[in-house]
Amino acid sequence: MRIYLLLICLLISSPKLDAQSKILYSPDHSLALQFKLDKRGKPSYSISRKGKKVLPNSKLGILTTLQDFSKQLTLTNTQLYQVDSTWMPVLGEEAYIRDQHNALVLELESPSKHKLKLHFKAFNNGIGFRYEFDHQGADSLSVMREFTEFQLAEDYTTWWAPSDWDSNEHTYTQSLLSKIDAAKHLTDIEPFNQYIPNTHAVQTPVAFRNSKGLHLAIAEAAMVDYGALHLNVDRKKLLLKASVTPTANPSIISKNKLPFHTPWRVILIDDSAANLLENRTILNLNEPCKITGDLSWIKPTKYVGVWWEMHVGKGSWHYSDKSGKPNGTHAANTQNVKRYIDFAAKYGFQGVLVEGWNVGWEDWFNSGKEEVFNFTQPYPDYDINELTNYAKSKGVSIIMHHETSGAVPSYERQMDAAFQYMKKHQMSAVKTGYVGYLFPKKEWHDGQWFNTHLIRVAQNAANYQIMVNAHEASRPSGLQRTWPNWVSNEAARGMEYNAWSKGNNPSHVLTLPFTRLLGGPMDYTPGIFETRMNAYDPNKKEFIQSTVANQLALYVTMYSPLQMAADLPENYEKRPEVFQFIRDVPADWSETHVLNAAIGDYLTIARKQKKSDNWFIGSITDEESRSFKINLDFLDPAKNYETVIYADGPDSHYVDNPYPVEVTKKMVKKGDIITLQLAPGGGAAISIFAK
Ligand code: NOJ
Ligand code: CA
Repeated sequence: MRIYLLLICLLISSPKLDAQSKILYSPDHSLALQFKLDKRGKPSYSISRKGKKVLPNSKLGILTTLQDFSKQLTLTNTQLYQVDSTWMPVLGEEAYIRDQHNALVLELESPSKHKLKLHFKAFNNGIGFRYEFDHQGADSLSVMREFTEFQLAEDYTTWWAPSDWDSNEHTYTQSLLSKIDAAKHLTDIEPFNQYIPNTHAVQTPVAFRNSKGLHLAIAEAAMVDYGALHLNVDRKKLLLKASVTPTANPSIISKNKLPFHTPWRVILIDDSAANLLENRTILNLNEPCKITGDLSWIKPTKYVGVWWEMHVGKGSWHYSDKSGKPNGTHAANTQNVKRYIDFAAKYGFQGVLVEGWNVGWEDWFNSGKEEVFNFTQPYPDYDINELTNYAKSKGVSIIMHHETSGAVPSYERQMDAAFQYMKKHQMSAVKTGYVGYLFPKKEWHDGQWFNTHLIRVAQNAANYQIMVNAHEASRPSGLQRTWPNWVSNEAARGMEYNAWSKGNNPSHVLTLPFTRLLGGPMDYTPGIFETRMNAYDPNKKEFIQSTVANQLALYVTMYSPLQMAADLPENYEKRPEVFQFIRDVPADWSETHVLNAAIGDYLTIARKQKKSDNWFIGSITDEESRSFKINLDFLDPAKNYETVIYADGPDSHYVDNPYPVEVTKKMVKKGDIITLQLAPGGGAAISIFAK
């Protein structure tokens, strides 16, 4: 499945490097990483770009049960090597990804003769490094603290979400690094923020821009067998310090069998916000695909679902009222699911997600119970055999839902039976969910134990040829390369918040691609046409801070190989000419070009459909209206194309006039210019069909 076009891997010892001070250059020499050991044997690094310091001297080090590897270290060995290879993601934003980097492995020794390897990789647009431990007379170690620091050279504009070890569902804020005020923003959290670990701490990935337009992001890659990386912010020193999510024992980050290495710590470094989105360093730092054999079952999937109707309050997940009688509002009933299957079949969607199909929803949310859901027992009004046959006859797959409400051991006990049940009923994708506090108690959603669970689910699902879309997961770190059946994640504040909270502001939606999505796809669940909740209940004030044209554009700007058409069938059937875009847009791509971008402000992306000559463009803006000239210079000069443009109306506005979408068609060719006018909170979507 991966074609290696070119692989050069040279191992060369480097007598030229001075013993205490090492410099690793990126292949194009634009980035230089310098490693230092001071007189006390304390390790640190700095990064320069084109001769200018981007990260001045920043501490390294890690405290383990073997040794405190932050001082009294000596350098005992050095290796340099180079890689230039190209690989093919199973599903992705492009068909081929080049992995070109230089690497440096430094072996450091403590006075007790314990060894730590520091492994650095320098790409042309990013640096990755991690801590590695061989077998050394011990079977295991525990990590108590990681001392990694990121010292910024100036007061960058920063796009950040407050640190919370138990939830990623926070809105983003833009501020100067020196003005980050995470605690204040945690008060905005609903509904399950319980813990404020640090007054000024942020999630990763976090993005930065300086006055010259240099863009950085600090993130992690291949987060395996460890807690997720958060950053404590020293606002005066402009310094970010690793704050890794602990285990249930607050003084321990991880317990690991040897050999072991931490996830990669990553600094992406680019000239523009657009380049940041095209940066594939995080994926390149992940391991190749671990699933062997046929991979044709891992497919891009567009789906609809018995879902939004519960969030808007039309139906319920649960079946019974308090007295145990059917409540009459249970949405996942056979007849209603058939309606969705018919809709999916009629309009070409591959999947129908059904939430609330199984026993357990009467008392699921933060119930404190360790056994909540049964993953093989449908409610009495959900005829799974009939629906399996019905879906099959219509050429549609039902997408399974496994909400665990945080009762993870219960899910693990049932997992094999649940996957077998799925296969018996011909389902090949599952949406998992982990709402609320975790079991075991005191484990965090971002902690080692839960991260390991998520990988176990992906791995086990692969054995059953099942694709996974995890909600309430920890932040993605590029593991979709290694486990391509782990097709998507929520792991941020998605569409659902617009139905029952003060929602997601336009800037939040425009910050996600440059932060959360750097680590992997997001199941944002776009495509809401009825953006006002008073359409369901006249007393409701909630609304989606977006025009309908903006909703269309999200299918291109919010990358995911699993994309939901999230609104109700009846809302789509009212506007067939607008719905057409959602029907046409694919979810897997051979090329991606970011045409313009400013974090939190606007974004336009053109993507080429995989195994096709068709292109799709999505363009979105924040609260400001904007006009863009889109140059179609990426098209094939030998072809003619028919475009369908879905644009905001002249008076569209996300607050008081979200609905107008003007649909126009015209023939175009390479080099033509299309002018787009985006309303406040608006957008535009374009289908470009090769003729
Ligand atoms: C939260 C998920 O993000 C949402 O999509 C789902 O409907 C609910 N949990 C219930 O499982
Ligand atoms: Ca959620």
